[in-house]
Amino acid sequence: MSYTLTTPLYYVNDRAHLGSTYTTLACDAIARYQRLCGQQVTFITGCDEHGQKIQRTAEAAGLSPQAHCDQVSAGYRHLWQRWQISNNRFIRTTDPRHCRLVEQFFARVEASGDVVEGRQQGWYCVACEEFKDDPHEAQDPECPIHRKPLEWRDELNLFFRLSRYQHQIEELIRRPGFIAPASRQKEVENFVAQGLRDFSISRIDLPWGIPVPGHPGHTFYVWFDALLGYLTALLQSDESNSGNNPNQDQALELDQVLLRGWPAQLHVIGKDILRFHAVYWPAMLLSAGLPLPERVFGHGFLTREGQKMGKSLGNVLDPEVLLERCGGDAVRWYLLRDIPFGEDGDFQQQRFSDLVNNDLANTIGNLLNRTSSMARKWFAEAVPPAGAATGSNHPLAQAAGQAVSQFRGAMDRLEFRPAAEAILQLATTANGYLNERAPWSAMKQPGQEQQVGSDLYAVLEASRLVAVLLAPLLPELSARMLHQLGQAPFASSTSMHGESSWTASLAWGGLPAGLTLPQPQPVMQRLELDEPL
Ligand code: MSP
Repeated sequence: MSYTLTTPLYYVNDRAHLGSTYTTLACDAIARYQRLCGQQVTFITGCDEHGQKIQRTAEAAGLSPQAHCDQVSAGYRHLWQRWQISNNRFIRTTDPRHCRLVEQFFARVEASGDVVEGRQQGWYCVACEEFKDDPHEAQDPECPIHRKPLEWRDELNLFFRLSRYQHQIEELIRRPGFIAPASRQKEVENFVAQGLRDFSISRIDLPWGIPVPGHPGHTFYVWFDALLGYLTALLQSDESNSGNNPNQDQALELDQVLLRGWPAQLHVIGKDILRFHAVYWPAMLLSAGLPLPERVFGHGFLTREGQKMGKSLGNVLDPEVLLERCGGDAVRWYLLRDIPFGEDGDFQQQRFSDLVNNDLANTIGNLLNRTSSMARKWFAEAVPPAGAATGSNHPLAQAAGQAVSQFRGAMDRLEFRPAAEAILQLATTANGYLNERAPWSAMKQPGQEQQVGSDLYAVLEASRLVAVLLAPLLPELSARMLHQLGQAPFASSTSMHGESSWTASLAWGGLPAGLTLPQPQPVMQRLELDEPL
């Protein structure tokens, strides 16, 4: 019943932008969903703080690398709190415990005979922190992702003998479900089919890194160091009970990760770093005798005007501004409901506000608001008697049952779009039902009160289910809706697990008749974006 999932550990070369926020929001939805289903979730995020890129950025800012990292990673931590991200861990790769873990891991890899000296020549992208295998024939090759010149490198380094794992990696990446979505599998298969080459895991003359024991002048290659952050994170205490940390003082022991949530069920990353997670990382784990993660999900890029949104390209949307101007629910909805998870998505402001206003403010928000107002007016400010509406063959009971099963199936497959559509469909059906039953006219006719009560009950109950299903995707809107229905919100607690009240609350008929309904308040503000974001 334990479920470990991770975001990438973000570089601290700059503040977070909407791209990293997207990955983190998606993981938050998964983490919340798994907790609501009763799993004990460890949701890991954090920052990747070593390497040349960071060193250069700090120099340019006139700061020591450590001071720079402290500043930017504090910004990430604060940002995720503001977005109500429910991470259980926040790992920084400059944490001294992490450095010790990297040393232990390296010792194992060395003992397996997988570390050799070699010469690395090639074109390097500092922004990717990666050698590029086939830069275009151009005289001044540039990185296709960052549009920045590649740098020629010729170094004596330590190499990890990736080539020894050719066969095991081939088998691994063929395993159904290891690489998701399935469309990304082929790309990795092609890369592996070319023959895996050893890769360098140390750098010389790069002081901003973890020193390699026994190899003076070498520091670890930032990716070798960073991937291990997922393991160190498991040995930290939970974010929800910092201050009370029995494990912090214990000797750090790599094998303890096996008792604390390793192997991970899921690494969520952007497609740019799939190779590191689906090829290099598993081989490193095999070398150290540790089990492999179950799944690597490579999602697409957010683009703006068709170009990858990125810090290096300077076309980013600022998540602080978005949160301030639009609120977390709106952004979560747009990103999860409109972009098929796994594919690229272009951020379009008009579409963003249209979807938020149509789906959340009108279809979902107004439905609750007007139904609750009618119920309060005609039924003593309370949920009306249900009459026949609690029956499982009521049309809205049927629609709700369908929405629940579609939603759960989609969430289990990490398909946020159909999950969101299932919720929306239920709200649309309930709106249709309300319009068809027209309680405002029926109420004017004598003897119709019972029927009107039953109709309003059914629509309120459908709204309750909409709110319950929204809990993992839009936790704040869900809480506001539940409040309007006199219900407690679902705890966003990072430690919640066990017998799930959420699953139980998915059954039709859970809204108690006679419950007092609070004064209706709009649950979702409309977005009026005059200025570009
Ligand atoms: N530090 C490495 C990851 C190490 S993991 C052990 C790194 N960091 S990063 O800051 O560059 O973050 C890359 C990730 O941020 C992508 O894989 C993706 O998850 C997210 N995104 C960055 N730009 C993005 C978009 N434009 N669109 C969607 N996601 C983007 O790589």
